[in-house]
Parts: sequence; C-alpha cells; structure tokens
Amino acid sequence: MQQNERINFGSKLGAILAAAGSAVGLGNVWRFPYETGNHGGAAFILIYLGCIFLFGLPIMISEFVIGRRSKASTGKAYQVLAPRTPWKWVGYMGVLTGFLILGYYAVVAGWTLEYVVQAAMGNFFGKEAADFIAMFSDFSQDPLRPLLWLFVFVLTTHFVIVKGVKEGIERSSKVMMPILFVLVLLLAVCSVMLPGAGEGVEFLLKPDFSKVTSDVFLGAMGQAFFSMSLGMGCLSTYASYFGKDTRLGATAMSVGVIDTLIAILAGLIIFPAAFSVGIQPDAGPSLIFITLPNVFQQAFGGWPVLAYICAVAFYVLLAMAALTSTISLHEVPTAFLHEQFGFTRGKAARIVTVGVLGVGIVSSLALGDWSGYTVCGKNFFDALDFLTAKIMLPLGGMFGAVFVGWKLDRRLLHDEVTNCGRLRAPYYPLFVLILRYLCPVGIALIFINELGGF
Ligand code: PFF
Repeated sequence: MQQNERINFGSKLGAILAAAGSAVGLGNVWRFPYETGNHGGAAFILIYLGCIFLFGLPIMISEFVIGRRSKASTGKAYQVLAPRTPWKWVGYMGVLTGFLILGYYAVVAGWTLEYVVQAAMGNFFGKEAADFIAMFSDFSQDPLRPLLWLFVFVLTTHFVIVKGVKEGIERSSKVMMPILFVLVLLLAVCSVMLPGAGEGVEFLLKPDFSKVTSDVFLGAMGQAFFSMSLGMGCLSTYASYFGKDTRLGATAMSVGVIDTLIAILAGLIIFPAAFSVGIQPDAGPSLIFITLPNVFQQAFGGWPVLAYICAVAFYVLLAMAALTSTISLHEVPTAFLHEQFGFTRGKAARIVTVGVLGVGIVSSLALGDWSGYTVCGKNFFDALDFLTAKIMLPLGGMFGAVFVGWKLDRRLLHDEVTNCGRLRAPYYPLFVLILRYLCPVGIALIFINELGGF
C-alpha cells in the first residue's frame, strides 16, 4: 500500500474510541482487580495511578507520535523514522510481545464466552460462593471446553481483522464502549450496596503502606502498561491510522481517563462483592469469574429477571471489550507481516491466527492437565503473563520514551504534538523532560528494585 493511500479512522471520535477500545478490556475488569487483590489493595492502586501519570500518558503520546509520523505499524515505524539503526529491534520486540499476549489473553477472553452461555442458560440461579468456585475450577480444568471457546474467540478476532480498519475496528468500538461504561457503573452501585460491602470499599480506598514491597511497584507498573496497551506499539500502530487533525495529547488524556475509570469501577464491583460473600481478594485470575455471578444473584435476588438480564449483558459486554483488545493485539503482528513481507492482509492474518492458536492451546492446558510443567516456578500461562506484562511492555515503553525523547528530531516532535503549530501544548516542555529522564530512570529503578538491587 502506498503511504499516502493509507486508510484512516473516519473521525477524531473514532480514533479515541478505537484506542480506548484497545485499552479497555480484560486488563481492567479481570487483571486489575486480581493484581490489586494480590498486592494488598489501595496502596497498589495509588502506585498504579502514579505510573499512569508519570509513565503512561507521556509514553502514550510518544507512541502516537511514532505511529502518525511514520504512517507504519510498529514493526516498520522505527525503520521509517531511524533507517538502518538497531532501533528496529524495539519494533520487532513489540510485534513479538503482541503475539505472545494475544496467546494467553484469548484464553481468558474465551472464558467470558463460557460465562455468557452459563448466564444465558440461567445457571447462576440458586448457587452460592462455593458453587461458583467449583464451577470455575471444573471449567478451567476441562481439557476441551476452554479450547473450544479459545478457537471461537480467535477466529472472531481474525474475521474482524480481515474486514479492515474502518469497518471492523472503528465501528465495533463506537457501539460497545458507551454501553459497557453504563453497565459497569450500574453494577458498581449495586455491588457497593450489598450487605458487608464496606470492607471491600475500604480495601480499595484505604492504603496500607506496610504491604508495599518491590513486587508491588513492578506489578503496578506492569498493570499500567498492560491496561493502557502501551509498550508494544499497539497504540502507535493505531495512530498510524489517525488523521492529521487528531489531537494527540487530548486523545491520550481521554483514553487514560476512560481506562482508569473503568478499572476503578471494576474494582468497586469486585471487592465489595468478594468481601460480602467471603471470597478472598487474592484468589488470582479466577477472581471475577467467582465473585461476579454472586453479585448478580445477591444484588438482584428479589428480581430474577433483572439478575438474568444483567448477568447476560455483563458477560456479553466483557467479551466485546475483550474483542476490541484482541483485535488491537492481532493488528500489530498482522500489519507487520503485511508491510514487511508484502503478504496480503488476509494471508498475514492467517499466519498470526494459526500461531496464536498454538500459544493459546498451551496456555489453556497449562491451567489444567499441564499445570505440572513450570518455567521459573510458574505454569506457562502465568510465566507468559509475567514475561510480557511485567518485563517486555515496560522495556518497550522505556525504549520508546528514549527514542522519542533523545533520538527523534525535536522540530518534528513539536509539529506532531501541536499539529504543526495549530494547537497550543503548554505541557510540551514537561513532556519532553519526562520522556528524557523520568521514564527511563524510573522504569530502570523499578526493575533494579525488583531484582533486589536496593
Ligand atoms: N489493554 C488491554 C486490556 O486492558 O485488556 C490489553 C492489551 C491490549 C495489552 C493491547 C496490550 C496491548 F497492546
């Protein structure tokens, strides 16, 4: 494809919603609550918010700059902006990261489909916390059912990717995002009103700094990158489809606010509900699948029809939020193969899909029959999550910040941030300072701290 023929998102709102569609997903509703639960609650959230402001927003703007300026997917962008330099490896690492994340992310995305079906068949009625725990463990250890849903999910993603940018990605985001937001808000209100919910709200809002270890910093940083879709060039690939009027700073701010709000609201759904029925907040990846069905039961116990509708709607929307994220993950390696090797988009997508299914099958079995095989003491699923979210994404973000802060021509950077002088960007000097010093030093310190360097 000629560069000047590159497809664009149809509108500025479309650009925001597509980027927000990538950011908002299982990371907010599934991963954020269980990481918060594992790391002690409110103190983790404060550090997480710090990471969003100090690393997340500046790095998001810098990814937008890389994408829109190069008009290429991340794998190619560094070659366009810094030809014949080793920077291209940062792009390649992003492509690999996206591919690996999609492998295990699609497994959990598949679980949401199982829960859509369970909710639709009315199977949550009359059950208690212990039943939901058993229901989840039976399902996740079954060798076949999770694989079936994995296939369905990956093939749906494949279908949207092949339909292309405007038809597929933009349109689906525009419809799904607002509905998801309203439903999450409604459920948070219901959950906070459950009997005994106060303890959960306190867990979420009252920090206990005695629980802060080096792990908490690494966890919060990894979660910030994962949740905002940063560090692997996903948003820079989307930004390559932005029009010249899209305001990069304002778009990053909108995406950051939407993403953070949904994560906090998800916390407000899960923790009050978990404490209310006596489920431990550190139950791990199964947390939302064992607490949420309970919320529907208890909050709307007197109105079974409402309980039914909310349960089905919630899992449908969660599956859709996951879909807008899997689309963005799939897009990175697909666009790379298409641009780098000249494959048609269809062929590039097929190669990625087959590879992702392979990683997905191993990740899924790692939670059941193959849980005995471990890497550094973790099963394959957890090891992939650790490697990608806590190491590869922050590393990718750090290199991206250094690239834009130190390597990219200053005039070009200023032009991108101000749309060639048409916008005021009072934050610009601070932005450059953060990219040059705070991001690389801060991220490096968190790594060193984790390795026991302090
Ligand atoms: N941000 C997505 C979520 O929170 O579910 C996951 C994700 C998408 C991570 C795209 C990274 C990425 F590039």
